[in-house]
Amino acid sequence: MDFKNKVAVVTGAAVGIGYGCALKFSENGADLVLIDINYEKLVEVKEELKKYGNDVRIYKCDVSDEANVKEVMDDAIAHFGKIDILVNNAAIWRNWSLFEETPIDLWKKMFDINVMSVVYFTNAVLPGMKEKSYGKIINVCSVAGVYGNAKMACYSASKAAVVAMTKALAKEVAHLGITANCVSPGSVSPAENPDPNFTQKSDLAFMGRTGSDMENANLICFLASDEASYISCQNIQIDGCRRKQ
Ligand SMILES: NC(=O)c1ccc[n+]([C@@H]2O[C@H](COP(=O)([O-])OP(=O)(O)OC[C@H]3O[C@@H](n4cnc5c(N)ncnc54)[C@H](O)[C@@H]3O)[C@@H](O)[C@H]2O)c1
Repeated sequence: MDFKNKVAVVTGAAVGIGYGCALKFSENGADLVLIDINYEKLVEVKEELKKYGNDVRIYKCDVSDEANVKEVMDDAIAHFGKIDILVNNAAIWRNWSLFEETPIDLWKKMFDINVMSVVYFTNAVLPGMKEKSYGKIINVCSVAGVYGNAKMACYSASKAAVVAMTKALAKEVAHLGITANCVSPGSVSPAENPDPNFTQKSDLAFMGRTGSDMENANLICFLASDEASYISCQNIQIDGCRRKQ
């Protein structure tokens, strides 16, 4: 995997899978645009990435705010002149409630953060990718968007929306040198644990454990690489052989 002279945007890069992607892209030479609402953590991540010597720009941004996304992406594109790779990873998912007990406001918030953010960032990078006939878009979804998780109806629906959106987009841009794919994790080790290689026991997978942030980042970065040039319009599950719910 070689990302020299490539510019990658990662949303939700402060912790978890997004942080894993920032590490993996950096190790392999990419310049980075790291986005998160948690700016303090992003500062720490930037400090950690210094040893790789790549150009890393960090932005505090609420990905559900269209104007905020436009502002930071205009700045990033003005600085780098292009975006080669977009990883839409930021999302919210920590809510468990019965369907009829899920507040309408939460449905709207989840769709704003999990779905509309993908629209805003994709709109920001597509014109440049089309102009250069080059682009890799990877949207982080979830097995919940495939199977539907009980007590996670709005999260499941938001991720299913992104899977369908990604497949539709992939078909529109396949002839333009742009790929669009989804990665759907099963259970991932808690982002609260700062070790990106941490795993723990889980009955949800036949492998008997969660996946680590780095295992997810490895797949995302592979899809962002030129080694994955003939892969598009896919939703690839990374779930340790999931026991379907
Ligand atoms: N962790 C899991 O078990 C799991 C399973 C399946 C799918 N996923 C998906 O993987 C992705 C990453 O999840 P995770 O668990 O690694 O990280 P996480 O949920 O712990 O953190 C996501 C990051 O996104 C940021 N973020 C949240 N809302 C934001 C907003 N409005 N604007 C900007 N940034 C915002 C957070 O500050 C955080 O740094 C998400 O898309 C999630 O839905 C996670």
